[in-house]
Order: sequence, then C-alpha cells, then structure tokens
Amino acid sequence: MTRPKALVAGNWKMNGLKGAVDEIIKLNDLVGRSDAKCDVLICPPVTLIGSIIQLNLKHVSIGAQDCHVKSIGAHTGDVSAEMLKDLGCTHIIIGHSERRVGHGENNVIVNKKASQAQKFGTTAIICVGETIDEYEAGKTLEVIVSQVKSSIPSNAIVENTIIAYEPLWAIGSGKVPTVGGVEEVHTSISKVLVERFGSEGAKINILYGGSVNASNAHALMSTVNVNGALVGGASLKADDFFNIISVYDQVD
Ligand code: PGA
Repeated sequence: MTRPKALVAGNWKMNGLKGAVDEIIKLNDLVGRSDAKCDVLICPPVTLIGSIIQLNLKHVSIGAQDCHVKSIGAHTGDVSAEMLKDLGCTHIIIGHSERRVGHGENNVIVNKKASQAQKFGTTAIICVGETIDEYEAGKTLEVIVSQVKSSIPSNAIVENTIIAYEPLWAIGSGKVPTVGGVEEVHTSISKVLVERFGSEGAKINILYGGSVNASNAHALMSTVNVNGALVGGASLKADDFFNIISVYDQVD
C-alpha cells in the first residue's frame, strides 16, 4: 500500500510580521519553478493566514498551528477549526509539544482538537513525541504508541489524518535521533495506524520533525515509513526550506 505524496510542512510558530509574507511568495515561486516531488505546506502565525490565502498561491498550502476544542463560544483569544477552514486553511497542527507542555494539553484535549479540525474539513497533523527523560529511560515506543492511540479521534479517517513524530529533545536543539531510531518509531506508529484503520492505515503520512535541516533531511526523509517533515526553524526562510523540499528529488 503506497502512501500519498510526501508532505514537507513548515511550522513558523510565533515568528513572522507582515513582511514575512514575502518569504512565502518566494517559496511559492521556487516550488512552482521546480518539479517538486512532495506537497508543501506552511503554517504561519494566525495573524498572517488571511493575507497569505488571499494571494491564491498555487504551490504552497496554508495551515494553522492550533485550534480550540469547541467550534464557537465565549473563549477569549481562541480560534476555532471552523474559522480556520473558513479562511482557507487545509491543515491544522494539533498537539505540538509546545502546546502539550506550554499549555497543558493532554491526549484527551489533543483528541478533541483533532476531532474539530477533521469535523470542519481540514487535515489534522497530530504531533507526538517523547521527553528526554522518557527517551533515556527507554520508554520511547511505549509513550509514542500510547499518544498515537489516544490522540486520534473516533471520527478520523485516513484522508484527514497525518501523524508527526517529534521527539521533544530534538526540537530546536540541533540534535536528531539516529536513522534507526526514527525508523523504529515510525514503523511502530505505522502498525498502530493499520490496527486502527485496517490496511488503508498504511496510507497515512507519518512526518518526522525536530531539527530537520538541509544537511540531515536526505537521511531522515529516506528512512522507511518517513513520509515527510515538520520543520520549524529551517522553514522561516524560503531558500532554506526549499533546500529541504528539494531533497525529495533524490528520495523515492
Ligand atoms: P525545529 O522545530 O525544526 O525548529 O526543531 C520543529 C517543530 O517544532 O515542529
């Protein structure tokens, strides 16, 4: 069972003022002039989403970094999945570790948020990852399998689900797991997805994230059961991000 095209997604986090839109226009031009072998997504801060979507870029999809567990109501400062879909977002990152740790989002909340994203027609990029303590205690697989199982909502279907494996200790640190370690985790996630969705579960993209850059992307993206990347720091500049996208010229 082959998975859909790989996805290289940029998570801009809380970076980017109005002028940063120029980087996305540049990225769209670079991807458009190339024969990109993967899909390309940028998740800018919510403040920029509307103006970027109005540009009708052909080669870069736009997503969001989070949504609320509810679709409407008295939730000051929050944004619903329906609002993001209404703006034109195709994907929503759910349960990023900076949300899980910084905002106390457990698997139950992540499950509800993913459910909202999917209910309103976007694809949920559900993030999972172990802490350094869990990694050093040899608990990585146990933690990841449990997070994947409990974070995927009951209304999820293959077409609106993506998993991103991001070890917390690899995010923004310049450290990455060994290729063997990534393969082991991704293969375990793939098994959970097949248990959950049947053989169609093998069509769900499993992204790797955490310090991906142009130098390590080829090794990581060539790894069995890795179908793309979730990139933070190296997605902020069009040239850097395009170098990661271009790795797919050499990956089957
Ligand atoms: P990084 O972030 O690429 O800067 O490590 C990845 C992420 O947090 O999604």
